[in-house]
Amino acid sequence: MDKFEIEGGTPLRGTVKISGAKNSVLPLMAASLLFQEKITLKNVPDVMDVYTMAELLRVLGVQVERIKEEVWNIDPSRITSTRAPYEIVKKMRASIYVFGPLLVREKKAEVSLPGGCAFGPRPVDLHIKGLRELGAKIDICHGYLCGEMESPHGEEIYFDKKSVGATAHLMMTAALIPDTTRLVNVALEPEVIQLGEFLEASGAKINGLGTDIIEITGRENLTPPDGFSVIPDRIEAGTYAVAAYLTKGDVKIEQCIPDHFRNVIDKLKLAGAGIEEGKTWIRVWSESEFVRPVNIHTAPFPGFPTDMQAQFMALMTVAKGTSIIKEGIYPDRFKHAFELNRLGADIIVENGTAIVNGVEELYGAPVMATDLRASAALVLAGLIANGKTLIDRIYHLDRGYDSFEIKLQSLGAKIKRIKS
Ligand code: UD1
Repeated sequence: MDKFEIEGGTPLRGTVKISGAKNSVLPLMAASLLFQEKITLKNVPDVMDVYTMAELLRVLGVQVERIKEEVWNIDPSRITSTRAPYEIVKKMRASIYVFGPLLVREKKAEVSLPGGCAFGPRPVDLHIKGLRELGAKIDICHGYLCGEMESPHGEEIYFDKKSVGATAHLMMTAALIPDTTRLVNVALEPEVIQLGEFLEASGAKINGLGTDIIEITGRENLTPPDGFSVIPDRIEAGTYAVAAYLTKGDVKIEQCIPDHFRNVIDKLKLAGAGIEEGKTWIRVWSESEFVRPVNIHTAPFPGFPTDMQAQFMALMTVAKGTSIIKEGIYPDRFKHAFELNRLGADIIVENGTAIVNGVEELYGAPVMATDLRASAALVLAGLIANGKTLIDRIYHLDRGYDSFEIKLQSLGAKIKRIKS
């Protein structure tokens, strides 16, 4: 397993370009199953999860090809299997997105039931409830969701909780049903909106996109838009923004949409960062003499993203005072706190809340990455830690950050990958 070795203490300086959003490209790739002809996706990030989704689609018979940097062709005209195997689903929960489209298109499908993950239980009950309401019969057999869907129909589906995955899954499924489906209390994340725009551009009718209630009128013969470009990754952009301030550097982050991570920018300002921005870029530097403590509470968009919680915690470890970080999406998503403590941080975790008492300095140490964003937090901490930090299991990072160490090196960071 590859490791990162980081020598802390260098301020990040320069310009970095943000790649396409992992959480946008995955549903778009799965939505290729709605078509009978080839689709082309642009601005596709070079991250492991994209290769895993490609592997899954290929198992189903879809032809998937990276034709050049950031551009992928997907040809779903021939489906040869309707089973998403455990070996792939266990690597990536977003695999469940293929279930609904397969059910409507092929009338049956089997998808391995995704288990829990490093940050606690992650049920799929809302996905199943929604698909059943659209006419699917679903059982659990030998660890798989086994479904049949003879006569799909539109319905009103109420989500008692905002779920990115369930919203995206039901949207793409409804787009292939020539009837009207009303989704109530949907997620509003930019990746969900982009999926809606993609489905609209393919011929589905969507009313209310960007609001809590949407109505989708689908059709059987959707036509993919010609060369659809994936939105920039707001979590990648937010991670570099935090890194710039944490290292007391000065970084211009290009090819991003500041409006997509407004809450992170706002918290950075409160913490003392200098910020300048345009429509597609943001510059972050160290304005305050010291990092000010800031409380955060993660919540569905436009709230503070849970996927930025760990990176922000890394920043708060060296704030002058105490910050309270409340996790409103995944109460157990705090494994990184214990690894940050190994670097000298002072964090106490209690009942879905972390109390971060700022310390003067972090010290390099060997640490273990536990999930994608936790790993990013450890890298950020390593960038300011006194001495050498060795981060094990960085395959988590490769799942979602395009060329992380290369982009950081270009900003002056002393980070290298140790292959094993
Ligand atoms: C997506 C993102 C992930 C992000 C998360 C929250 C992708 C590929 N992943 O994950 O990076 O951390 O949104 O912003 O886009 N829930 C249920 N039942 C369900 C589904 C979800 O109870 O059927 C709960 C979850 O346990 C969680 C909350 O709803 O507490 C939100 O989860 P959800 O938005 O569905 O997350 P994902 O789509 O899995």
